[in-house]
Amino acid sequence: MKLTIIGSGYVGLTTGACFAKVGHHVMCVDSNPKKIETLLAGQIPIYEPGLEEIVKQNTASGRLKFTTSTEEGVDFGEIVFIAVPTPPNPDGSVDLRYVEKVARDIAAVIKGYKVIVDKSTVPVKTGEKVADTIRRYAPSVEFDVVSNPEFLREGSAVADLLDPDRIVIGANSPRAIAKMQELYAPFVAPVLVTDINSAELIKHAANSFLALKISYINHLSAICDAAGADVEKVAEGMGMDKRIGRAFLNAGLGYGGSCFPKDLAAFTTISNQLGVPFHLLSEVHNINTVQLQRFIKAIRDTLWVLQDKKLAVWGLSFKPHTDDVRSSVAVELVRQLVSEGARVTATDPKGMESFREFEPELAGKIALVDDPLAAVEGAEALVIATEWPDFAEVDLNEVKKRLIAPLVFDGRNLLDPWTMKELGFQYHCIGRNSAARS
Ligand code: UDX
Ligand code: UDX
Repeated sequence: MKLTIIGSGYVGLTTGACFAKVGHHVMCVDSNPKKIETLLAGQIPIYEPGLEEIVKQNTASGRLKFTTSTEEGVDFGEIVFIAVPTPPNPDGSVDLRYVEKVARDIAAVIKGYKVIVDKSTVPVKTGEKVADTIRRYAPSVEFDVVSNPEFLREGSAVADLLDPDRIVIGANSPRAIAKMQELYAPFVAPVLVTDINSAELIKHAANSFLALKISYINHLSAICDAAGADVEKVAEGMGMDKRIGRAFLNAGLGYGGSCFPKDLAAFTTISNQLGVPFHLLSEVHNINTVQLQRFIKAIRDTLWVLQDKKLAVWGLSFKPHTDDVRSSVAVELVRQLVSEGARVTATDPKGMESFREFEPELAGKIALVDDPLAAVEGAEALVIATEWPDFAEVDLNEVKKRLIAPLVFDGRNLLDPWTMKELGFQYHCIGRNSAARS
């Protein structure tokens, strides 16, 4: 099939590339000419494992094309995806200006029947608004609007796309449903067909539930520390119940990234607007905020004064295997340490370039080094903020030699408390502190 993706960011580019890989012909559109130039030159503007190869292969075979022209894109595809950003407004609601603009741009150039698919994460009832907008500006053209939410995790987006748990198609027209089923025919996954509003809700409900699981285990981690228990064992025991599952029960510094914080805020706002306030979600958010504060307090309680203390921070990206630093708890941690006067030296395997780009002011206030061992040289303590496997492989004896005192604050439970104790570290982790001291 011929497809068009409008918005070639993390979601749009990965989606387009994977559709090309399974045999479709895809045109990716982006309003940023630099991004399209980069893609046409055979480079990809983001780090996502496995993506570069798929983009290269499919560009070479002619199945993946790039343009800045919405008209060229809309003419090309039978199905046109909208994958532009949906950032949060200051009050937590969703800024839908890019989606609205793309709907108008499509209306300006649409000539015959198209299926317009919303891939961006949007509040319930956005599909109706997209349809109203296109109808207003292109009243005589036939089209259908579909909601087809993405469930991609950055860092494993390619695998999530090629081997999804499920495919959700929210559509109100049999013609559009048939097209979407044809599109997804090469994929082996259950397909759930719903109305548009339900599909939109599934995305917000799923992400909020996953955030809830994380906050649940994070609050439990504090209870474990207070009671002298090990949160990893508690998570394991809970997770063995198939009804609960072990996934997303990793205690740490809390969730970040471009999705959970914004989707939770959006869902909270929408439920308020619908007159059914979802107070539970406010508590999920509160726990996430408190979790970081509790960790910083532990650092403060140990070091007493942070002013002028040299601290090494391992990790800037919001999770491993991505260069994305948007709403990263690691970045927030660095910001707060710096605001208390600490002299931070940070490192990240992939996130330093985007950190410099998105946080130039903060980047100017800290030192950035490539080597995790160089970061700990002469530092008062090591703080682990992102659980990159690379960090788990660093020689801990060398870390100990280079630190002023053998002090490690592990915000992601990356290291083993017993090993750390054996090596003579004072080790502070999340919800496993009784294990670390026993
Ligand atoms: C996506 C979604 O679409 C968002 O709703 C979801 O919550 C997270 O994933 P993402 O792919 O992460 O966003 O955003 P980004 O990497 O910023 O890419 C968006 C692309 O759209 C950018 O390349 C931008 O240049 C492009 N864009 C933006 C357009 O082509 N047209 C516009 O009008 C606005
Ligand atoms: C998420 C959803 O998983 C995906 O389905 C959706 O489409 C987009 O949003 P993503 O934000 O890429 O994906 O990452 P995810 O793996 O879900 O992690 C989100 C945050 O939660 C990260 O900051 C991560 O460190 C944190 N997390 C995750 C935990 O703290 N504990 C866990 O057990 C799992």
